[in-house]
Amino acid sequence: MKKKFYLTTPVYYVNDVPHLGHAYTTIAADALARYKRLKGYEVLFLTGTDEHGDKINRAAKEKGVTPIELADQVVSRFQNLWKKLSISNDDFIRTTESRHTQVVSKVFQRLYRQEDIYRGTYKGWYCVPCESFWLEPQLRNGNLCPECGRKTEKVEEESYFFRLSRYQKPLLDYLEHHPDFVLPPSRKNEVVEFVKRGLKDLSITRLKLAWGVPCPIEKKHTIYVWIDALINYISALGYGANKDKFSIFWPADVHLVGKDILRFHAIIWPALLMALGIELPQTVFAHGWWKMKGEKMSKSKKNVIDPEEIVKQHGADQLRYFLLREVPFGQDGNFSIPLFIKRVNSDLANDLGNLLSRTIPLVVRHCGGKVPSPADEDKILEEKIKKILPSLDEAMNILSFSEALSCIWEIIRSANLYVDKCAPWKLANQADKQKRLNTVLYNLSETLRVLALLVFPFIPVSAQKIWTQLGMEEDLGSQTLDKAGVWGGLSPGTTVKKGPPLFPRIKT
Ligand code: ME8
Ligand code: MG
Repeated sequence: MKKKFYLTTPVYYVNDVPHLGHAYTTIAADALARYKRLKGYEVLFLTGTDEHGDKINRAAKEKGVTPIELADQVVSRFQNLWKKLSISNDDFIRTTESRHTQVVSKVFQRLYRQEDIYRGTYKGWYCVPCESFWLEPQLRNGNLCPECGRKTEKVEEESYFFRLSRYQKPLLDYLEHHPDFVLPPSRKNEVVEFVKRGLKDLSITRLKLAWGVPCPIEKKHTIYVWIDALINYISALGYGANKDKFSIFWPADVHLVGKDILRFHAIIWPALLMALGIELPQTVFAHGWWKMKGEKMSKSKKNVIDPEEIVKQHGADQLRYFLLREVPFGQDGNFSIPLFIKRVNSDLANDLGNLLSRTIPLVVRHCGGKVPSPADEDKILEEKIKKILPSLDEAMNILSFSEALSCIWEIIRSANLYVDKCAPWKLANQADKQKRLNTVLYNLSETLRVLALLVFPFIPVSAQKIWTQLGMEEDLGSQTLDKAGVWGGLSPGTTVKKGPPLFPRIKT
C-alpha cells in the first residue's frame, strides 16, 4: 500500500479576491504536494474557502449582494487563479457545503454533551475585520484592536464557551514532546510562551449574526467563524461519516498557514482535537509574510499585488519560482517587480533556459535529432546528481523550498560549466571526436531529463516542456524519483524536439 500524505492550506476568506499572499500559501503547498507524489506518496492536497462570518456578511452588504452570491463569485476567482497557477489540489472545500456544516454541528453537539462547551456570558471586545475577541486589558489606546489597530466593538451577551483552559497543560506537554508539531522552531517557542501565560475559555457563539452555522443547541446563536473554519480539515475527510477516508488520511501531515493565523492552528485547533479524542496533526508550519516596502501586503493596507496580473505578464512558473526561491520559507520578504525580474532572468532564462537551448539544437544538428549513445566513462554529471538528491530531499522534508531550489540549481550550474568546458560545438568540427561528442550530448540530455523531474514540483509547465523537448512520452506527473530519478532513463535513439525558448528574458 502507498504511503499517504495529507496536506492543507487554510480555507481563504471570500470577502475579497485573492492576492499574492494567498497565492503564496497555496503555491508552497502545491510544490510540497507534487514533491511528495514524486516520492511515491498518495497525496491528499486540500484547499478551499471560508465563507461564513461578519466579514463576509458586511462585504456582501456593501456590494449589494447576498453573502452566498458574493461567495460564489469570489470562489470562482480563487478556483480560476489556482488553475492558472497549476495548483494540483485534490479537493476543494467550501465551508458553506453541507458536508462541512453537518460536521461542525455534530462536533458542537458532542463537545456540549461532554461539557467541553458550556453556556455563559461573554463580555469583551470584538474586532470585525480580524474576527477576534479581545479582553479589555489587551486593547490598544482604549478600544483599538491589538492586532490591526482598528476600532473594536463592545459586546456583552450570552454565549457558548469552549473550555480551552482545560487544555493548557495537555497542550504544553504535547508541545514539549513533539518538537515538530509547530515549525519553524522559533514559532514553536512563541506558541509555548503564549500558552504558558494562560489560556482562557473561548467564546464560540454570537447572537445576531445571520451568516454562519447555527448553534445546534440554541438556534439563535451562530457558531464563531474560526471554530467553523478549522473543522474543514476533518470535514473534508468525511469525519463521522466516511470512516475509511478519515482513517486513511488523518492525522494531517502538514497544515500550512501564514504566521498571522498560527495561534488558531497551534492552540485552538489542537485543543478541539484533544477534546474530540482525535490525534493531532504532525506539523503546523507557519510561513512569513510578503511585504510591500516593509508593510504586510493586505487588503486593508491597499498594497496588494494581483497574482493574475503577474501570471498574465510574465507567466505562472515564473511567479511560483520567484516566491519559493527568493525568501527562505518561514521568513518575511519584500516583493518588488525589479527583484522578480532579476531573479527570473538570471535563474530561469540564463541558467535553466540556456542549458536547454544549448543542448537540444546540438543534438538536432550533430546527431540527426536523436539522443546519442554515450561512449566513454564520464560520470561528472551523474555523480553530481547522485550527490545532490539526498540534500534536496532533506530540504523538502523541512519545507526549505529555497534551499531545495538552490540544490537543483547546483546541478544546473554544473551542467552549464560542463558545456563550457567540453565545448561540444568544437568537438563537432573534429572527425575523431564524434564519440566524445556523443558522450557529452548524452550526459547533458540525461541531466535535463532528471532536471525536468526535479523542477516539476516548482515549475510544472516548464518541466513538462523540457520533458517533451527531450522526446519523453511517459506522463511526467506519474513518475517517481525512485525509478525515474535514476541515471540512464533516457534511451539513446529518442527523437528530441526543438522548441521555443523556455523563459524569454524579461526586458527591463
Ligand atoms: O485567515 N504574505 O484566511 P485569509 C503571506 N479564513 N501570506 C499571506 C499574506 C501576506 N501578505 N496575506 C495573507 C484566513 N496571507 C482564514 C483561515 S483556516 C481554518 C481559516 C496568507 O483569506 C495568510 O497567512 O485571510 C494565510 O495563510 C492565508 O493567506 C489566509 O488568508
Ligand atoms: Mg487574513
